[in-house]
Amino acid sequence: MVSRVLNRGNYETVAAAVAATEAGAGATVADIGFGGGVGLDELLAAVGETGTVHGVEIAPTMLDQAGKRYRAVIAAGRLVLHTGAMHQMPLATSSVDAAISTNTVYFIDDLGPAFAELARVVRPSGRVVLGVGDPADMARMPFTENRFRLRPIAEITEQLEAAGLAVQEDRRISDGRMVFHLLVGEKR
Ligand SMILES: C[S@@+](CC[C@H](N)C(=O)[O-])C[C@H]1O[C@@H](n2cnc3c(N)ncnc32)[C@H](O)[C@@H]1O
Repeated sequence: MVSRVLNRGNYETVAAAVAATEAGAGATVADIGFGGGVGLDELLAAVGETGTVHGVEIAPTMLDQAGKRYRAVIAAGRLVLHTGAMHQMPLATSSVDAAISTNTVYFIDDLGPAFAELARVVRPSGRVVLGVGDPADMARMPFTENRFRLRPIAEITEQLEAAGLAVQEDRRISDGRMVFHLLVGEKR
């Protein structure tokens, strides 16, 4: 149910997050907490056949589904799936040109170590794009009462800055019911 509701506004948000990475053909990119895989699809299209997409997920069910759905691109070496959490990612330091993570921060208790990891894996001047529902709009959704941690956008921005990601932009996207923020950070 949660993913169905989020998915209504999701495609546009995730596609905008991928565009905001400015990753082009041949780039190496990552989607952290890829869930159903909308971001993986968009990233694969953006980097093309010469690029590489890394998908990191904490949930075994999402990893299993993606393993089946993306069998061909995994075999071709264009997509690599990893079990991991944002605060502890199995990716080498400065190994990706850009990373996205959309609709994930609500499930992370301590943003400091998680954002430090995002900053670690992205190369200098590389981009991290976070997609986050506006907390006031999210609070009106009944499914956010439990498990969801809704924070002011200013707090998330401060934590990105503290991790060494200079926030260039807070781009707002609306699906008519909800506003999503795309926080575009650049590694210092
Ligand atoms: C609401 S879904 C969003 C999926 C996708 N990013 C999107 O926007 O469609 C949140 C996803 O984040 C994953 N997740 C939650 N906490 C995580 C963490 N600490 N590290 C990595 N993934 C996490 C969940 O398993 C879930 O697949």
